[in-house]
Order: sequence, then C-alpha cells, then structure tokens
Amino acid sequence: MSKETRKTELSKLPFMDSSLDIEKRIEDLLKRLNLYEKFKLCAGRRVWYAPPIRRLGIKSFEMHDGPHGVRVDTEGKIQSTYFPSTICRAATWNPELSKEFGLAIAQEVRDVGAHMLLAPGINIQRTPMCGRTFEYQTEDPYLNKKLAVAVVEGVQSQRIAACIKHFICNNQETNRFTVSSEISERALQEIYYSAFKAAVQDADAWSIMSSYNKINGIYASEHKHLLREVLMNKWGFRGFVVSDWGATRATTSTESSINAGLTLEMPTPNKYSLTKMKQAFEEGKFTEEVLNENVRRLLRVMFLVGLFDDEDSLPQGSRNTSEHQLLARKIAEEGIVLLKNERNILPLNIEKLKKIAVIGPNANKKTFLGAGSSTNFPPYEIKPIDGIREKCKGRVEIIDSPVEADVTLIFAGLKHERGMDAEGEDKKSFNLPSNQIELISKTIKENPNTIVILINGSPISMNEWINKVPAVIEAWYGGMESGNAITNILFGEINPSGKLPITFPKKLSDSPAHVSERTYPGDEKVFYDEGIFVGYRHFDTRNIEPLFPFGHGLSYTKFSYENFKVNKEKISGDETIIVSVDVINSGEYSGTEVVQLYIQDVECSVERPLKELKGFKRIKLKPNERKTIKFELKKEDLSFFDEKNNCWKAEKGLFNILIGSSSRDIRIQGEIEYLG
Ligand code: BGC
Repeated sequence: MSKETRKTELSKLPFMDSSLDIEKRIEDLLKRLNLYEKFKLCAGRRVWYAPPIRRLGIKSFEMHDGPHGVRVDTEGKIQSTYFPSTICRAATWNPELSKEFGLAIAQEVRDVGAHMLLAPGINIQRTPMCGRTFEYQTEDPYLNKKLAVAVVEGVQSQRIAACIKHFICNNQETNRFTVSSEISERALQEIYYSAFKAAVQDADAWSIMSSYNKINGIYASEHKHLLREVLMNKWGFRGFVVSDWGATRATTSTESSINAGLTLEMPTPNKYSLTKMKQAFEEGKFTEEVLNENVRRLLRVMFLVGLFDDEDSLPQGSRNTSEHQLLARKIAEEGIVLLKNERNILPLNIEKLKKIAVIGPNANKKTFLGAGSSTNFPPYEIKPIDGIREKCKGRVEIIDSPVEADVTLIFAGLKHERGMDAEGEDKKSFNLPSNQIELISKTIKENPNTIVILINGSPISMNEWINKVPAVIEAWYGGMESGNAITNILFGEINPSGKLPITFPKKLSDSPAHVSERTYPGDEKVFYDEGIFVGYRHFDTRNIEPLFPFGHGLSYTKFSYENFKVNKEKISGDETIIVSVDVINSGEYSGTEVVQLYIQDVECSVERPLKELKGFKRIKLKPNERKTIKFELKKEDLSFFDEKNNCWKAEKGLFNILIGSSSRDIRIQGEIEYLG
C-alpha cells in the first residue's frame, strides 16, 4: 500500500475523527494496537520522543526542556526566548504574568514542532543550598500552587502539554538518584503536594514527571501509593506519568513501575525494553488491563495536543518574537527585588550624575543558563553593562574606578555552574566567592554610594557586607532582557515590586533543613524532621530573625494600610468570609504593592505555624491613590492536615487574619471565629 493510500485509509478510522468524543477516540485507537505496539509506546526514543507507530499513523510525541525556554538541541542550532529563571518569575507574585509566560513558551514549543514542555518545576525550596533553587518557584505551598496553576493553564491553552515536575520531594541534588526523602504525611499534604495537586485539579495538568529519589524508601517511579492512589485515584489525574530521565535505572523491576502507573520511561528503553516487558508479561507480573490503562493515558494526551489533527486547526506557534522578548523583560522587571535602600539612594537620578563606576564579575557576563534542563540558547542577551551603557549614552560617563564615581554599581552573585546554581549538584557554599566579598568591602571604603546588584538564583549569606552598603538589589538570573530590566529599575523607569518567594537566612544553620547532617544532606536517607516548618513557617514560629523575610521587597514609594474589615466575624461550615483592607500609596512615585494575607490559628490541638499565607493581591497605585482590596477565606484556608484521622480539618476557635507587606511586616490585623 502506498503512503498516500494508507493515509487515506487511516483518515477514515474513528480515532481520526476530531468531532468524536476524545474518550471514544482513545478506545478506538487502543483496541487497534497490538501488545508489542503497546510495549513499544511505553519507552522513549532518541532522548526526546515517544516512538511512532507508523502502521496507525501515530507520530512521535516530542517533548523538550525546559522551565526558562525551549531547548531542542545541545549546540544551540535552534534558538528560543530565554525567560527569567523560575525564582525570578515567582518573585513577581503575579499569576496572570505566569499565565502569559506559559502561553508564550507553549507557542515556542509548538513552533519547534513539539508537543510537551518539561516544565514547570514546582518542587518546594526546602534549602537554599539546592542546586535547583533557581529552577523552582518558592518555599510556600500557597504561592507555589497559584503560580503553578497559572503556568499550566497558559501552556495548555495552546494545546501543548505541561509536565509538572519532579513528583515528589526532589528537594536537593545531593544523592538525587538514590536518596530517600523521609517525610511525614502531614508535611506531604500541607507543603509538598499542594502545587502538584492544584495543577492537577484546578488546571488539569496533562503530564507529571516522577522524580529520581525515593519517598519513604520507595522510588517515585514505582511508588504505587503515590502514583495510583494519591495522584490518580484521589486527585483524579487523567494525564500520564513520565519518568525523569534515567529515573528507572535504579527501580526494582519492570512490573513495579507498570503496576504503579508509570506510562513512559525516558529517555530510552531500560526497564521498559521490549524483552523485559515481554518477559514480565509472560510471567504474569502485570496484566494487559493495567498496561492498557497506562497507554490510554499517553494516547489521551496525544489527542489533547492534537497529534492526529490537521495542523491548521491547532493554535499556531511562534518563536523569538518581540512580544516574547518584551514579556521576558516584564517578568524580570516585576521579579527584581529591592532588598535594601537606605538614604533613598535609589532610584538613580540621571540628571545629577556625571560618572558611574560599573564593576564586579557579573557586570559584563551573560547569565544564560548553561547547565542541565535549564540550558537554553537565546538569539541575544542584554548584559547589565549593555543596558546601563545604552541608558547613559552621551549623558553619564561609565568608568571602572569607584574613587572617581558619583555612584558605584557592583554586579556580584553566582554563576550557572555545577556547585553553584545548577542542576546535578548542590551549592558548595552559602557565601559569595571570597574575592567578591573583598571587592564589596574595599569598594564601600572608596565610595559610600555603592550599590550591590546580585545576579544569582538562591539565598546567599550577606553578613560580612550587608550593613556597610546602602542598597542591595536581588536581580536573579533575569533572562535575555535582564540588563534592560535592571537598568530600568536602577534609574526608576520601573518602580520595583518583586517580593522574595523564599526566606534569606542570616546563616545556613538557621535554616530548618540545616539543623544536622541527617536533615541535610543525609546519606541514603534525608530526614525532613522539620515537618511542615519549612521556610518562614520555621523562622517565624521559632522566632529566628532572617536576613530578609519571605515576602519582603521594597518600593520607591510607600504604602499604608487602613480599614481592616470582615463581612462577618463568625463563620461555620463551608461559609466564606470576605476580608477587606484599604491600601494607600502615601509616597511620591506610582508603584505596585503585593498585599499579603496570612492566617494564624490562635489555639489548636496540634502545633501550627505562626503564620500561613492564604492570599495575596498585586495592586497598582498612583501617589495618594487608595484602593480597597478584598480576600475571600474559606474553611479550607483555616485547615490543617490531621494525621490521626488522615484528613484535613478546621478546628473551632479564633483565627487572626494578618495583612501586610511581608511575612514580617504585618500592617493591620483582625480576628474571626470558626464555629465548626
Ligand atoms: C532533569 C529534568 C529534565 C530531564 C530532561 C533530568 O535530569 O531532572 O528536570 O527535564 O533531565 O532533560
């Protein structure tokens, strides 16, 4: 039969009819696959593909990294937009922007002809030392879920599958292929599951990546309870599970993963080789019914992304457009965090400056991500010095001598290299490299108007110099437009509004994961002894002063909070309560505040954190402008996970509602009562 005739014949089959219900199409295609073809579909080909079944017109299902831009090859032959690192996007506290990002990156996925994006990475930032902190969103489960849902919705609006990763408790790179994360059910429920669950239930994520590590002794890729019970049965996940690349190398058997619900083994056949599949099947280790269920899930996603549909009927792709580049800049501008600003040294007034010294190892360095799944190849990248030069052209002289300068900008920070902020290894040090510390200390003596701009992706120690410098900016790895974004912040074109999605500790041992070797890095096991007391939940409850708290970020203007109101003081059952507050811009610049709402359970039968984030709103205000903002709270926001009864529970009693500008800057508060 010629190719054309086969195509015509195939096009008459029911599964090719896009007007049919998707479940009918899946069943029709499934029944046409023979056992060998089903085996074949379950293991990857050439690193980024699920294999084609040409007899039935099933094309290769193609997937690519990663969280900050589509990367197709390892040499950069195919370029794509380099968006700011995930932690920077999270620092925007802006779900709408995350959705726009998801949509844009999906357009780039479509444009390279692929079907799935291996992102977002939504593991909780448990320790500042994790090599992938920059690649994850936050330490807080509420912020994590709001942003995860937004990204997944954006990506999938283009009929591209999002693959949320890494499920679960892959919170460090040290021993990531073997370590067992020893964790309580309460911590899983309250902290680590949250974003995964919401991405499945609220955004219908079409794929999930099982992590390398074990959870309480069982590898994620063969964890039946985790995958079948929790993810599929309890949360109602309808997509497919894909292993992290090589995550099945260490699992016990072929059947353990099949029975657990792992559909696709990547990157190439290992446990799911035809020989092993055939043997395990013949020995009765798994049934065809179970295999069908796994394959059905992959077919479902193939239909969802339009693998069998006419390409013209699908959302069109685009790549490296000025819109995407502008979006990358916007995310960087909203994600940059002004950590400190004494004497209102910032923003810089270009009219009053003659000479600016621009120094430091990151001033003239590209940040583009060069390691692991975040590697990408943008068509260009604006470095800090490029942005500043362009701004100052013909107006201010750029020099490298702090002594002669009106202002000195030091671009310090880390690099995208193993042992710093990169996949595969945790950070070797919590400090800046010592030559940078020396540079900062020396420069501040030469010029009191020295501003430190940090380019990095995770908390670092600043003890040796923080009190000496008047201003510090956390600029993260800000994507291909980073230099322009930083310049706009420095010169006040953009008023900073980013807020830290992670606590910056004064010293590492203050961090909840760093109380002992057992809690980090562990050995065969790493014990999550801190339980639910992750991030600010630990710092606030244990009364440990952080260097910069969760939610912190300054503005060039000032905001005041007034008029706390609740529509009722007591609620019962599933009633909702509306909390409102007025926010006023009492400074001189237009600006955006991220108003944060935390709850505090006054008395409870189990220990609860002093504060838990349960709402946030970004609000833009002109000078003297006032706006009333509203939050809705429900029973679920007051609940904790009751381990004794294995369910979520809200206990009767009083709750404080704390509203403010960071977890440590509560400006106004009130009280409600839950009557049960
Ligand atoms: C990473 C994943 C990534 C995959 C494919 C793994 O090493 O952990 O995040 O998607 O490789 O590159």
